[in-house]
Amino acid sequence: DWNTANIIDETVTAIREQIGPEGRAVCGLSGGVDSAVAAALVQRAIGDRLTCVFVDHGLLREGERAQVERDFVAATGVDLVTVDAAGTFLRELSGVVDPEEKRKIIGREFIRAFEGAAREVAEGKGADFLVQGTLYPDVVESGGGSGAATIKSHHNVGGLPDDLQFSLVEPLRALFKDEVRRVGAELGLPETIVRRQPFPGPGLAIRVIGAVDAERLATLRRADAIAREELTSAGLDEVIWQCPVVLLADVRSVGVQGDGRTYGHPVVLRPVSSEDAMTADWTRLPYDVLERISTRITNECAEINRVVLDVTSKPPGTIEWE
Ligand code: XMP
Repeated sequence: DWNTANIIDETVTAIREQIGPEGRAVCGLSGGVDSAVAAALVQRAIGDRLTCVFVDHGLLREGERAQVERDFVAATGVDLVTVDAAGTFLRELSGVVDPEEKRKIIGREFIRAFEGAAREVAEGKGADFLVQGTLYPDVVESGGGSGAATIKSHHNVGGLPDDLQFSLVEPLRALFKDEVRRVGAELGLPETIVRRQPFPGPGLAIRVIGAVDAERLATLRRADAIAREELTSAGLDEVIWQCPVVLLADVRSVGVQGDGRTYGHPVVLRPVSSEDAMTADWTRLPYDVLERISTRITNECAEINRVVLDVTSKPPGTIEWE
């Protein structure tokens, strides 16, 4: 539409002015909509003088790396560097159970991995601009000094070392989330990215309750993919805000499958409806959809023999379990 095209034109012009005819930029991609749209706008403004960096921490959902490496690159033609850091993250997370400790480790390792790649781009190509997908509500929130207590530490790419100096480019600073999605659609980004529901930076690590390892992640990744497939094919993506699937990795219960007794793990479905994630209500999903998800997960994930539904609103429950 006219308004969205206008936003794109004005933003692209402003980016060109800020970066100049020779300047180069780096942008971290998370797989989410904000960083993807920010990168696509900068790409439109300065073309291959932009390099994107994608850190694969091994805590992503099924298909997310391909969405960035294949679909996003196909849609934008952007120059992309992927950092394969899954091994490092798994090693650092080994044996860690405490949710805040998991977040701290992931935040630290993420910055470390991103910094290494950004430094190479900065030194190799002479980039001195860093693109960030800061939205208008983030600007207001951090300037407003609301004094609200931090309940969970959310990690973002901040905290780069002093000797790595970038000027910030924030092309989404004036936009709300729905405008960002419209801009992304207008720029031709894949639906899977433009319509993506919120997903936490620490990824599947905070949805394995207990210590994280490769096997547990693989089990959860499969269960999560099944739930998302069924919710999408039931047309419920617009109805729910998000639906975390949580693996209770330290809990076992007795079950029966075929002739055999099983002693497997439960997963929790946590479908929520919300406007802004500050408060949320549990979504009354149709029973037939719940049934399909439950049947498929217990059939297709050998470690899981029970599917339970979280019927807690926020407050008192948070959306994520950790
Ligand atoms: P909670 O669990 O606090 O979640 O009700 C509110 C929203 O924030 C997301 N979330 C995170 N996002 N880093 C993120 O980028 C995090 O550490 C994090 N923790 C929670 C959550 O998915 C929900 O949309």
